[in-house]
Amino acid sequence: MLSVSNLSYSFINNLFNSVENNDLQNTNLQKKILVNAFFEPSTRTSLSFESAMYKMNGNVITFQQDYSSIKKGESFKDTIKTLATYGDILVIRHPDISKIKEAESYVNIPIINGGNGNGEHPTQALIDLYTIHKYLKEKKIHHPIVHLNNDYYQTTTKVSILFVGDIMNSRAIHSLFYLLIKYKYIHIHFLPFCDCDPPMDIISKMISYKFYNETMIFSKDNIDLSIYDVIYVTRLQKERTNKNNNPDIIVDKEFMKKVKQDAIIMHPLPRNEEIDPEIDDDPRCVYYKQMENGVKVRKALLSHFLSN
Ligand code: NCD
Repeated sequence: MLSVSNLSYSFINNLFNSVENNDLQNTNLQKKILVNAFFEPSTRTSLSFESAMYKMNGNVITFQQDYSSIKKGESFKDTIKTLATYGDILVIRHPDISKIKEAESYVNIPIINGGNGNGEHPTQALIDLYTIHKYLKEKKIHHPIVHLNNDYYQTTTKVSILFVGDIMNSRAIHSLFYLLIKYKYIHIHFLPFCDCDPPMDIISKMISYKFYNETMIFSKDNIDLSIYDVIYVTRLQKERTNKNNNPDIIVDKEFMKKVKQDAIIMHPLPRNEEIDPEIDDDPRCVYYKQMENGVKVRKALLSHFLSN
């Protein structure tokens, strides 16, 4: 799982079905080993994979770059080949966008992309899509996003999604964007921080695909926040740019006054200044819920790759 581009509807539906139906209660990964290899900091991705594995009786080994033979000059290739020898599945996060593809060429076990530079973060996008699906279902907004069992709504109700923040560098946004455009009736708009416009591949996709002729990129002075069902916020990726300023858009009580009563505010976390903690108790904020869904969706993914 390196990117969301190759994921089929049936894969996504089956995955979400197994989360919904609690199918994983009897999954036993007793003899299986997950290797977590994070070459970049992580809290939720690494620990939720770990937690998911333990919940299914599986085992985890954690590669620690600073205490590894990389410090003795060992190559990336030899490191990855070694990790693949010791485990049944590999989760890799790397600041260099190309390393995940390179790693895939060295091993024969499943590899999950836990975030590659400013590229993609496919498992976060699945968690986010699942969270959006649950919310729309709870609000009884009949929607065409995902069909679970007999629960398939075919309507023309549009779901409007606004991405706010560092659109240029946020891999969580990139993957969610590529996942959402697989579905009909989704409206996507962007409200980027200053100098954080969507990357060219996303712009060309929108122009060539189905968002043609629509104004897609807004500024804080010309946006109507009241039309969105989902507002997805990310932090400024300071580690990927030379910017060290604070974001020019803050989601605070003032911002929330302009947002629909039944909308949701999402964030993959970690957050910095872009979401004021004063709004955490607003029922529209679902970022902690997203985090909770992380373990559930990752359990389903691990079970898919490791049960046989
Ligand atoms: C994101 C990431 O690492 O890409 N976090 C996550 O995995 N939940 C978001 C970020 O770092 O801004």
